[in-house]
Amino acid sequence: MTDEHNEHNELIIMTLSIIVATDEENGIGKENQLMWHLPKDLKFFKTTTSGHPIIMGRKTYDSVGRPLPNRRNIIITRQKDLKIDGVEIFNDLENAVKACSNEHEVFIVGGGEIYRQALPFTDKIYLTKVHHTFDADAFFPEFNHSEWELISKEDHVQDEKHAFSFSFLTFVRV
Ligand SMILES: NC(=O)c1ccc[n+]([C@@H]2O[C@H](COP(=O)([O-])OP(=O)(O)OC[C@H]3O[C@@H](n4cnc5c(N)ncnc54)[C@H](OP(=O)(O)O)[C@@H]3O)[C@@H](O)[C@H]2O)c1
Repeated sequence: MTDEHNEHNELIIMTLSIIVATDEENGIGKENQLMWHLPKDLKFFKTTTSGHPIIMGRKTYDSVGRPLPNRRNIIITRQKDLKIDGVEIFNDLENAVKACSNEHEVFIVGGGEIYRQALPFTDKIYLTKVHHTFDADAFFPEFNHSEWELISKEDHVQDEKHAFSFSFLTFVRV
């Protein structure tokens, strides 16, 4: 969490949040793709992150393939000359987060490498737990549940549009 004053000298406290969907074994993707199609989760992602900056690793950006509308799109890469229209580019996570210090909530949207680096500084986690185990090659880091309080849980059953049941879980750091 950081704080800063805006142009009206009002104090802004920025919340750094992670938003992620994992399977039962913390799998998040395979061959740079998601492993499930869950329209309600895509809608949840859109509603939750719209209007807020999203920070992602370069591989996740490649997987999405375009900037997402109505949000600042920020990519982290070690490449010094990468330029993409409609996207802000930083060479480390720290400077990317600093560039958002006058925002109320900033979302780390993956993938595995970026989640691992961001988790120690994260205030809030929006976790969609997909109730299945996939053959993943990218993972969300283990997190110590005793350091986090579950503040909301919403279960969704499998149906014709959702091949797997899943739960929306929200955690805040204790
Ligand atoms: N289930 C979910 O919620 C979810 C969400 C997002 C992504 N995913 C999945 O996650 C997978 C991708 O994750 P990933 O771990 O392979 O890659 P990633 O975290 O998306 O991106 C890794 C890249 O970020 C850059 N990077 C990482 N650390 C950096 C640092 N400290 N400084 C500068 N640049 C840095 C490097 O880019 P350069 O190589 O350009 O230097 C690195 O190759 C895909 O399968 C995707 O579908 C799942």
